[in-house]
Amino acid sequence: MAGTVYIVGAGPGDPGLLTLRAYRLLQQTDAVVYDRLVNSEVIALIAPGVIRVFAGKSCNRHSMTQEEINHTLLALARKKKHVVRLKGGDPFIFGRGGEEAEFLAQHGIAFEIVPGISAAAGCAAYAGIPLTHRQLASGVRYVTGHRQNDDKLALNWASMADADTTLVIYMGLGNADTIRRELISHGMDASTPVAVICEGTTPHQRRHITTLGQLVQTIARERIEPPATIIIGRVVALAGTMDWFGMDTLPVRKAL
Ligand SMILES: C[S@@+](CC[C@H](N)C(=O)[O-])C[C@H]1O[C@@H](n2cnc3c(N)ncnc32)[C@H](O)[C@@H]1O
Repeated sequence: MAGTVYIVGAGPGDPGLLTLRAYRLLQQTDAVVYDRLVNSEVIALIAPGVIRVFAGKSCNRHSMTQEEINHTLLALARKKKHVVRLKGGDPFIFGRGGEEAEFLAQHGIAFEIVPGISAAAGCAAYAGIPLTHRQLASGVRYVTGHRQNDDKLALNWASMADADTTLVIYMGLGNADTIRRELISHGMDASTPVAVICEGTTPHQRRHITTLGQLVQTIARERIEPPATIIIGRVVALAGTMDWFGMDTLPVRKAL
């Protein structure tokens, strides 16, 4: 019998956001293959003696190709190893968890998916921004701001420029000017509030509040670097009153 591969979400940073299922697997597995965006404090939770393989993948820098990662998982599973494939955030949200699961299924390897807190959910919560709100946003849409091989960002801009829907843009820093220009030219107001959250849920979190019209200038002025998540929509206006993480008034959080 080959081993099982557990495709596990590590959450966006704060190790306290790891699920109990993920934590138990890190304690019991034979090997962990992990991505660059997995927080070092989560890596520190892997039991001693477990094989660790750094896959090093980020949105556009790869130390292992996707094919090499797939074959590493396959080789470990065929050696009867139980393997945790540990990914930042949630494995099924811009995490290629689907591609890896497909590959394993094609090769007859048993797998399990363990969801994680996505960057969207983590950054929004820790920035004090409810992604939906009965008066401000009736829906939320997760969008990639980056295409494979740096291809032109061709999104359905007309459907995205909807004041009732919050947009969460992953990997969008490099294409911020296109995002700004296209949304405004498709009817979104330049004064729409925008938050850019870097290293969300970690002690290094920075939360920049701006407008759609000023997005590019804010990124340049504040020297914002990845990993960053961009939230666009009326709900961002609530960030001023809900900055619980910035105020850091919750001693229980530190104790956990
Ligand atoms: C390849 S995607 C992985 C997304 C992940 N699977 C998820 O569910 O959040 C990487 C992007 O997620 C976002 N991201 C991940 N961790 C983040 C963090 N701690 N703070 C802000 N954005 C983050 C950034 O947009 C980053 O470029």
